[in-house]
This record gives sequence, C-alpha cells and structure tokens, in this order.
Amino acid sequence: MAKTALCSDDSFSSYSFFIEALDLFSSSLPSIEKSPVECACKWVLRHQHKLKQAARSCSLKVKEALGLEDRHFDQVETDSEVTFRYRDLETQLTEPDRLRSKPEVSDLGFGKFFTDHMLKIYYHSQLGGWQRPMLVPFENISLHPAAKVLHYAIELFEGLKAYRGVDEKIRIFRPELNMRRMNKSAVTAGLPTFDGHELIKCLNRLVQVDQEWVPHGEGSSLYLRPSLIGIDGTLGVVQSDSALLYTILCPVGNYFKNNSSISLLADPAFIRSWPGGCGDQKMGSNYGPTIRVQRIANGKGRHQVLWLYGPDHQLTEAGTMNIFLFHIDENGEKVLATPPLNGLILPGIIRQSIIEMCAEWKEFRVEERVITMNDVIKLKNTDRLLEVFGSGTACIISPVSAIEYQDAVIDIPTTEHSYPVYKKIKENLEAIQYGHIKHPWAQPIE
Ligand SMILES: Cc1ncc(COP(=O)(O)O)c(C=O)c1O
Repeated sequence: MAKTALCSDDSFSSYSFFIEALDLFSSSLPSIEKSPVECACKWVLRHQHKLKQAARSCSLKVKEALGLEDRHFDQVETDSEVTFRYRDLETQLTEPDRLRSKPEVSDLGFGKFFTDHMLKIYYHSQLGGWQRPMLVPFENISLHPAAKVLHYAIELFEGLKAYRGVDEKIRIFRPELNMRRMNKSAVTAGLPTFDGHELIKCLNRLVQVDQEWVPHGEGSSLYLRPSLIGIDGTLGVVQSDSALLYTILCPVGNYFKNNSSISLLADPAFIRSWPGGCGDQKMGSNYGPTIRVQRIANGKGRHQVLWLYGPDHQLTEAGTMNIFLFHIDENGEKVLATPPLNGLILPGIIRQSIIEMCAEWKEFRVEERVITMNDVIKLKNTDRLLEVFGSGTACIISPVSAIEYQDAVIDIPTTEHSYPVYKKIKENLEAIQYGHIKHPWAQPIE
C-alpha cells in the first residue's frame, strides 16, 4: 500500500499498525471462505479499539501538517479497553405519561422505591471493551440463563448517596472513594475496570435527570446503587468476557426503622471474613451467606450480628457497618478506636471520614487497632466503655446499646451521655452532606 508524504513517519506506532493491519486484512481476504463483507465487519469489530487509536493518530498527523492546534487531544480520547466515556453518553428519557408517582418521605424505608431512569454500560471484550454509556428508562434486565453472575456470583456493587442541601443543591458524598473501591472489587472479581471520574460524571447526569426523586428533608436522601455483573452466557468458572455496569437509584429514609439504638449478637461460631479472602471487597458473594446468621440474631431479639474473627474473638464489623468504640484508656485519656484494615474489613467511606474528621478535631486520640471481646469486657467492667457505634452510608451512624456474647449481655451506655461523641460525629457529617457546611467531601453536582 502506498504511503503519502504526510504519513511518512514510520515510528508512529498506531499509524504503522493501521497500515500493517490493512495490508494483512486485504491479503487474508481470499483465504477466508465467508463473504468479504462479513469478514470485514468481524475484523473491524475485533480491532475497533486499535482502529480508533489509528484514526486519532491520523487526525493528529493531518492537524500537524495543516498547522492546527489540538491541545485537548490527550484529555478527551481514551481507549475503550480502558474505560467508557461520559461524552459518549446516550440518553433516552421516559415518556412523561410513564413517570412514576413519588412516595411520601415517611413511607420510603430503604431500597423499596426506584426512580424513572437507570444507567447501563456494556463491556464486550470481543467488541473492543467498553461500549457507550446509556441513560435509559428504568427497566428489567435480560440475561442469558448461564450468565456467570447467576451461577458464580461474579459481581460487585457500591452504595453512595445524593443529598438535597439546605440551598436546594444536590451533593454526592465522596464518590471518588466509591469508584476506587469499585475498581478494586472489579480486579478481584476479574471484571473490567474503568476510569472512576467518567462514571461519576455519568452518575451526576443520572441524578440530575431524576433530581425530583432526591427527597426534601434531612434524614432522607437518594441512594445510588452501581453494580457490575459478569454476563457471559457460558458455564465455565473463568473470567467473564462480557459485563454490564448498571446503576439504579432509590429515595431512602432512615435505614433502621425508628432510628434508635441497636443491639448485637456476637457469636464466634459465625465468620464473615478471613485472611486471604474477599471480605474487604464489596462483592455480593460476601452478603448472601450472612442472611441465615442475621435471622439467628433476630430470633434472639438482636438487630444485627457483631462479626468476630480468630481465637481471641476480634471485633470486625457490625452487620453491614464498620464498628467504633469510644472509651477511656489506662491513663485516663479518651480514645476512639476501630479495627484496622487488615483484609477482614470493608474499607468504609464513612469509617474513613470519621477517622479523618476526628483526627482533625484533636479532642481525643483516634486509633486503628485490633479490639477483642476481652478488651470490650475489661473496659465495661472498669466503667471505661463509653460508646459503641456502627458506621455506613446507609445509616451514617448507628449507636449500639447492648452486645450479647457467650450467654451474657454487655450493656453499653452509648446513648446515655448528654452529648455523646457519636451524635457529634453524625451531626457534623450530616452538616456536610446537607450543605450546612461547605466542604470538599460534598460538592454540588453541576
Ligand atoms: C460489610 C460492610 N462494612 C462496612 C460498610 C460501610 O461502608 P461505607 O461507609 O462505605 O458505606 C458497608 C456498607 O456498605 C458494608 O457492607
């Protein structure tokens, strides 16, 4: 194939690939039995991401030759193998007569009602990777009965919230941390990763389209549930070559029914997470097996399970929350302690925010350390256990008033102080989320 003077730089790898590929393609045509058009289509689909690179290279060359500037070239173009892009988002709005009616805030509960739209982004390695994001009316998804998510739980999810502020602006709390965690889970699940900033932009758009669903009134919010599932319709226990990243939204009220304190069952017979496992990832496979244990706890009149680990009965998490103890140490100093991120614990975004916020206050020491049930008993018996509380996006903070352990109940005076630390933390986090305090953790979406 002849090369023009404009394209004489053979060191330009994408361009060289393009030329070589075209040569290879044209020379392979006669040996292929299928129709040339079918062949060509398959070839283009298989190599589309490289062709895109080549097209970019050519366009840059042409612009260089014509003396045109292309300053934003590197910023706007990415490879579909690496990520999808917000700028490719296609939007299909729900017909006005099909919009759902919105429930009363008092009826919301958690995860019962869904908004009018959702986000869908397919990944097909055979088609070059990520496809264009689609914002579509809320709908059922159709899956092959052999889809890997249905058989081997090849999936992960996230949970984040959008809040309607006192200034009517909508803010999403620290979404970049959810994106980081989501990509980590994707690596563990063998699912494709992506540029978190691109998903944040798509999510912002989704929330904007459904903004009427962001409830008015503090204590309520719009919960965003991005999920990434393996959808290959093949039964092998291998990586899924196709995936679907989708996001649904639901307006939510208080996670726990009357928003009062909760009690926990701590039984070392049940283990949620172990070293070398995936307990520190937000994968559905971590949650299904907890349902039976949760029912056992409920049967004993306890709200949640306090998950223990190891022969020394280390505290790890409370239900689907990280756990904190506020206590007085041997020297009479106040300490806020939480178990360390040692692979057994989900790195909660509220957990991280509490640690960072309290470290800044400098009112008490903040420690990430192993806490055993013996430590809890010792603190209780010496009147140095002040508060225990759980943290998570769904509930923000949930005070704990009792732990049932080895047929005894440890009562905890969490809610009995005049201004407990858990309350101060909750108020400060909510002040940021609802825009009372301007803070980089909760920026208004454009
Ligand atoms: C097991 C587990 N631990 C902790 C958390 C809290 O994490 P975050 O603060 O990011 O909501 C969650 C919530 O999703 C969870 O599922």
